Amino acid sequence: MVRIGNVTIEGDVALSPMAGISDSPYRQITKRFGSAFSYTEFVSTEQLKLGNTKSLDMFRFVESERPIVFQIFGSDLNTVVHASEIAAERKPDIIDLNMGCSVSKVSHHGSGAGLLKNIRLAGQMIEGIRKKTGLPVTAKIRLGWDSDSLNYLETVKVLEGSGVSAISVHGRTKAMAYTGVADWNAIGEIKSRANVPIYGNGDVQTYQEAMKKKQQFGVDLVLIGRKAIGNPWVFGKVPKELVSWFEIKSIILEHLDLMLDFYPSDDDYALILFRKHFIKYIENTGFPEEQKRKLLMLTSVDEFKDTLESIKMDSNFLETSEINNENINCETFVSLV
Ligand SMILES: Cc1cc2nc3c(=O)[nH]c(=O)nc-3n(C[C@H](O)[C@H](O)[C@H](O)COP(=O)(O)O)c2cc1C
Repeated sequence: MVRIGNVTIEGDVALSPMAGISDSPYRQITKRFGSAFSYTEFVSTEQLKLGNTKSLDMFRFVESERPIVFQIFGSDLNTVVHASEIAAERKPDIIDLNMGCSVSKVSHHGSGAGLLKNIRLAGQMIEGIRKKTGLPVTAKIRLGWDSDSLNYLETVKVLEGSGVSAISVHGRTKAMAYTGVADWNAIGEIKSRANVPIYGNGDVQTYQEAMKKKQQFGVDLVLIGRKAIGNPWVFGKVPKELVSWFEIKSIILEHLDLMLDFYPSDDDYALILFRKHFIKYIENTGFPEEQKRKLLMLTSVDEFKDTLESIKMDSNFLETSEINNENINCETFVSLV
C-alpha cells in the first residue's frame, strides 16, 4: 500500500502512462485486472490552456479507474500551473508532471525530459500545481538527459523540496530513448535515498518479474508499459500464455466495445484506433496471418466482430516466444494535442 497525500494506492504493479494506449477504455480493463491505479496519457498544458476539446477529453474517466492520475506536460511555468487548475476541475486524485518524454518535439522545447535540464523550473511547477490545486503532485522522470548528465539524485532532491508526493523513474536517459536496458540499480539507488514513494519502471515483462524487482530494489510500485499493450493479464498472477483464446477473444471484444462507447463517431474511428491494441492481443497466439490481415482492413465493426468470432483457434497458446517490443516506443502513438 502506498499513501500519496490522502490517496491510498493498493497493489504492486500499475499501467505506465502511454500516449495512444492508456486511454479510459484500456485503463478500465487494466484496473480490473489488477493495475494499482490509473495514469492518463500525457496531455499538453498549452492545449489545455487553449481549451482544446480533444486534450480535455483525454481526462475523461469513470469512477472505477480511481485512483486516477492526470499527467500533464509543458515548459512554461504559468501555463503549466494554469492548466493544472483546468485539469483539477475534473476531479483527479493526483496530478503528475511528465519529465520523461524523450520525443524531440516535446523534450527539445523544454517539456518532458527537457525539464531534466532545468530541474529548478520543474520544482517550481510542482510547487505551483500543488498550491493552486491542493492536490498531491507526482512526477515521472528519467535518469538524466544523457550519460554525461546523470542528475537523478539531484532531481529527486529538488522535487522533494518542492513537495512532490511520489516519483516514477524510467531507468533510462533521454538520449537512450528506448534503446539499451533500463538501469534498475540506479532506480534502487534513488529508492534508498528518497523520502517519498518511488515507482520503478523499465523493461519489466511479467507480473512475477515486477514482484522480484519490487523486492530486489525496494521500490514501492512497478510500472509496466510496453508489455502491457494487448496484455492486461500482466497485472495478475496468471500470464496471458496460460489463458484460453476464448478469454482473450472476450477481452478483445470488451475492449473494442469500450472504445466504441468512448470514441463515438459515424465512421470507423474507434475501430481504427483499436487496431494497435488488436495486433498486440493476438501477438504470439498463433492467430492466422491471413485472417489478421483481413481484420486489419475491415472498417465495419459488425464485420470485424463476425470475422473474429468465426476464427477457430486452439484454446491455449501454442507459441510462448518472446514478444518483440523493440519497434514500439513513445513516438509510435504520440499526438501532441
Ligand atoms: C507508445 C508509448 C507511449 C508513451 N507515452 C507516455 C506518456 O504519455 N507519458 C509518459 O510518462 N510516458 C510515456 N511512455 C513511456 C512509458 O510510460 C514507460 O516509461 C516506458 O515505456 C518504459 O517502460 P516499459 O519498458 O515497461 O515500456 C510511453 C511509452 C510508449 C511505448
